Amino acid sequence: MKFTRRPWAEPYKIKVVEPLKVTTREYREKCIREAGYNTFLLRSEDVYIDLLTDSGTNAMSDYQWAGMMLGDEAYAGSKNFYYLESNVQKYYGYKYLVPTHQGRGAEHLLSQALIKPGQYVPGNMYFTTTRLHQELAGGTFVDVIIDEAHDSQSNHPFKGNVDLQKFEDLIKKVGADKVAYITVGATVNMAGGQPVSMANIKEVYALANKHGIKVVLDATRAMENAYFIQQREEGYKDKPIAEILKEFCSYSDCATMSGKKDLLVNIGGFVAVNDWDLFEELRNMVVVYEGLHTYGGLAGRDMEAMSRGMEEAIQDDYMASRIKQVHYLGELLDEYNIPMVKPFGGHAIFLDAKRFYEHIPQEQYPAQALAADLYVDSGVRGMERGIVSAGRNKETGEEYKPKLELVRLTIPRRVYTQAHLDVVAYSVAELYEHRKSAKGLKMVYEPRYLRFFQARFEKLA
Ligand code: F0G
Repeated sequence: MKFTRRPWAEPYKIKVVEPLKVTTREYREKCIREAGYNTFLLRSEDVYIDLLTDSGTNAMSDYQWAGMMLGDEAYAGSKNFYYLESNVQKYYGYKYLVPTHQGRGAEHLLSQALIKPGQYVPGNMYFTTTRLHQELAGGTFVDVIIDEAHDSQSNHPFKGNVDLQKFEDLIKKVGADKVAYITVGATVNMAGGQPVSMANIKEVYALANKHGIKVVLDATRAMENAYFIQQREEGYKDKPIAEILKEFCSYSDCATMSGKKDLLVNIGGFVAVNDWDLFEELRNMVVVYEGLHTYGGLAGRDMEAMSRGMEEAIQDDYMASRIKQVHYLGELLDEYNIPMVKPFGGHAIFLDAKRFYEHIPQEQYPAQALAADLYVDSGVRGMERGIVSAGRNKETGEEYKPKLELVRLTIPRRVYTQAHLDVVAYSVAELYEHRKSAKGLKMVYEPRYLRFFQARFEKLA
């Protein structure tokens, strides 16, 4: 028998398909040159398998599409809002909801509402948009994640955990009144989709409470995080992820959310809080920046799709297949000894470009180069998560040099088959085999904000 264990399969089947364009290597070489060796600047049409992001790239179900037809497009008081509100209360447990067009809309409102200029905002590693909104509000981000998170080879089961000592040291150093709040991202995207344990968030909440500091959960992939708790943390293996998620959220005061990930939609987000005064402030602001407080920049149908996606994503069998598909790609690549972040995270496999292209120094953007080379080889699009994404220190202007120099191969939900992932693995293995001949890049255009989106490069000779 070929199998060593009972195989898993997706608890859904394909009803609608979207044809893909297959291109030649020559054509792709031209495309990547024109895109300045930045995969963000490629046209999606020219991409074969798109692993740029799991954000907004999900396939919706027939149940969600049917819900789109029930959009109540009233300017005020849409019934889809009330349904979303009741689902957020039911699954996440927060009292009050402010919808936003996507995650960064929520981050913008919350940062402006809670940060006073000069305050510090600790977090378990940064996320690009989250940190920028904190900085724009006058805050300074401080990384308080455990050291293991910065080590691609550490096998810690909860590499997203907050280092309580680092958090406490910051409070002691600057004083609790100088700490705006602490952000806990679950899972931690930039660390490789690594989870936070229940025990850890509980302790973070207790420590923060002691000092009167709020805990803000970045709940973008908190359902995926709940799956890891179920699989890895003692006492949770018989609990449904719905129950785990609710307990997890109970150790925070509020949450920002990008619905474009966990919630199986193409657009949408929210901020959810327990505190009435904060809610009032957010409601005041949302009408300025997003839209009325009962739609926050979304159409009624988008809110309906998000509510229904929430109901589907929280199912244990769906979530198991989601994570197992990601790990399928990781395990395949492991057979070729590809350097990767371990253990595998929830939404993506992260190639370790520092060890993949050992001969390319970080100043020549090895991860950016690897992402470009992968596209040329097979039309697979990944994303740089390293020195380009990290940007510059706003005071000194120097480039941050993150320990992790990664290429993210992000798996959209319910979109690709195992055969697609076989193609991806083959191409990565090919590049690894010929890695010695790879060349670094030179940056020739650098935008002011979030430079990785639009920066342009040239190949070094
Ligand atoms: N927080 C996390 C952890 C994220 O991964 C993202 C987006 C956001 C917040 C912002 O949400 O895009 O809806 O405004 N991550 C995307 C990605 C862009 O590709 O990882 P958004």
